[in-house]
Amino acid sequence: MPDRPGLDPEELLSVDELRALQLERLQWTVHHAYANVPLYRRKFDDAGVAPGDIRSLDDVRRLPFTTKEDLRATYPFGMFAVPMDRVRRIHASSGTTGRPTVVGYTEGDLQRWAQLVARSLRAAGVRPGMKVHNAYGYGLFTGGLGLHDGAALLGATVIPVSGGQTARQVQLIRDFEPDVITCTPSYLLTIADAMEQAGIDPRSTSLKIGVLGAEPWTNELRGEIERRMGIDAVDIYGLSEVMGPGVANECVETKDGPHVWEDHFLPETIDGGSGESVADGELGELVFTSLTKEAFPVIRYRTHDLTRLLPGTARPGMRRIQKITGRDDDMIILRGVNLFPTQIEELVLGIEALTPHFVLELTKSGRLDAMTVRIERDPALPLATCVAASEVLRQRVKAQIGTTIEVRLEEPGTLPRSEGKYKRVYDLR
Ligand code: DLL
Repeated sequence: MPDRPGLDPEELLSVDELRALQLERLQWTVHHAYANVPLYRRKFDDAGVAPGDIRSLDDVRRLPFTTKEDLRATYPFGMFAVPMDRVRRIHASSGTTGRPTVVGYTEGDLQRWAQLVARSLRAAGVRPGMKVHNAYGYGLFTGGLGLHDGAALLGATVIPVSGGQTARQVQLIRDFEPDVITCTPSYLLTIADAMEQAGIDPRSTSLKIGVLGAEPWTNELRGEIERRMGIDAVDIYGLSEVMGPGVANECVETKDGPHVWEDHFLPETIDGGSGESVADGELGELVFTSLTKEAFPVIRYRTHDLTRLLPGTARPGMRRIQKITGRDDDMIILRGVNLFPTQIEELVLGIEALTPHFVLELTKSGRLDAMTVRIERDPALPLATCVAASEVLRQRVKAQIGTTIEVRLEEPGTLPRSEGKYKRVYDLR
């Protein structure tokens, strides 16, 4: 085992050592879920599989999937696997429709979560003694408290700002001189704009690292943020049903997609339609089985996030996920062509004279669907330059995605700004 001071011993396991640990923990999880959660017992029984049938990691494929609908059907606490008096905290995510999904944590779960967020922050380059400006929302959302506990455990100084009140964020960054900012990538753009409006060069602040996630973003946006702010922008991934932030995190030295912390989560990728497994390296829907969770174990939870499993690099034992640029439910079908909002982000950021402030509007024109990219013009450039740039965007969408769109220039500062997870698409059909 190579000696890498500061890393958790599990980060240094070989693939074989890791697989053995995963199997032991998978077997524990499956027994625990079957014994304590009626929904899992019923689903396993219906599928004709018993906990004792799980003898290898591949046997996980014999287990039924778990979906958001299962959580909704057992709302609020029906999938908790420990008595309520062992649950130390509850989080919930509102989603776009229906009942919120509710998750719970024992004392041990909270400790492991903090350890994994501390590990994630360390991978991103955060060190004890650094100041962390945490602008993820505090409350039922897992972002705020999740990052908070992890940063504290790492030995950083946490500044628990939460989201919103952007002018105040800028003031606090100037006064408290944090080294690190944690927020969504779209909100960091809002903060950078507010800095410029306040006459502060975003490259001149104390910030060195951004630990950014909770929404899809592209390497092009990473480049834009890094250039504009003079920081390292590192990707943090997670979802509340599986734990919260810190399920996977990028290493700052490679920035090549988040490493999944496989000692606690078993990832798979599947074909979303058939449910069949797809091979590592192939695009599929990401599915997770938790390996150490007590209050809320999840068995083959379908994330709807689309990615590929790739071999580990900076942590050779742990697989990576390709940077997630979309969810299957974000996909827009426009006259037979499938596209993701991040594909537009990629093209927009590739055109110098366009700003990153855009929304997508879907409408019906006659019987056909139409999409308009509404994008703010850059106030520093002549209008004709902006018009020409928007025409370039139209042509590139046609050439590279294969569909005709409209591009409409908007006045600077008129489109909604992100304060957390950004709502990019407006479906007016
Ligand atoms: O967003 C947890 C989180 C908080 C992650 C802070 C990172 C930082 P949920 O609200 O349950 O949890 O939303 C989870 O957000 O299934 C993805 O679709 C998306 N998502 C989260 N992180 C990333 C990321 C939190 N780095 C859902 N890249 C997930 C792309 C992400 N999408």
